[in-house]
Amino acid sequence: MQLEDALTTTRAVRRRLDLERPVDLEIVLRCLETALQAPTGGDRQAWRFVVVTEPDLRAEVGRIYRRCFEERTRGAAGRTYENAQHLATVMERVPVQIIPCVEVPGGHLPPRNQASLWAGLLPAVWSYMLAARGHGLGTCWTTAHLAAEEEVAALLGIPDGTRQAALIPTAHTLGATFLPARRRPLGDVLHLNGWTTREPAST
Ligand SMILES: Cc1cc2nc3c(=O)[nH]c(=O)nc-3n(C[C@H](O)[C@H](O)[C@H](O)COP(=O)(O)O)c2cc1C
Repeated sequence: MQLEDALTTTRAVRRRLDLERPVDLEIVLRCLETALQAPTGGDRQAWRFVVVTEPDLRAEVGRIYRRCFEERTRGAAGRTYENAQHLATVMERVPVQIIPCVEVPGGHLPPRNQASLWAGLLPAVWSYMLAARGHGLGTCWTTAHLAAEEEVAALLGIPDGTRQAALIPTAHTLGATFLPARRRPLGDVLHLNGWTTREPAST
């Protein structure tokens, strides 16, 4: 797969996760090896990846996810919500769940800007998702369970001071064709040479 194709067609896969087909753990581990090539500040690599394959654990994580999702989205509507709702109902049956975590120095999140902390983990998570796509696996970035982060930590034995960033369901996809999504146009979000755009002087 071409790099640009992977970058523009790696979607949030929810309805097209194959819940029946097992996922080879070796492939997941290879994708995580690839993810470990992502950058981290000071090359600290303070990342951890909890991989959940055991059915009872997956079921419990899935139940917690669904409860949090329903609490967070009460009264929501629309296509993204409906797709997300579907994922919430099947999360416990997704063959592999990945919970990326970051070890927080001193165990406390910094009071101000936390960008460096999270950026020491999140590029690797996206790398994992791209690598998974290269192996025919679908993923979806989810965060709903973070409202019950401590409950999931207790379930999986994640130690204090190690904070969870996401829950990434992983499964083979039903079909292989994914398309670029509609996004806000670049012109709406681009600020060239300052917030008020100043076109470069022509040379
Ligand atoms: C920080 C973040 C949190 C998200 N949380 C959830 C979530 O809890 N549940 C869910 O189903 N999707 C979640 N998503 C997926 C987004 O809804 C999805 O990426 C977005 O709708 C765009 O769809 P696309 O990735 O297919 O282009 C999350 C994505 C990000 C980046």
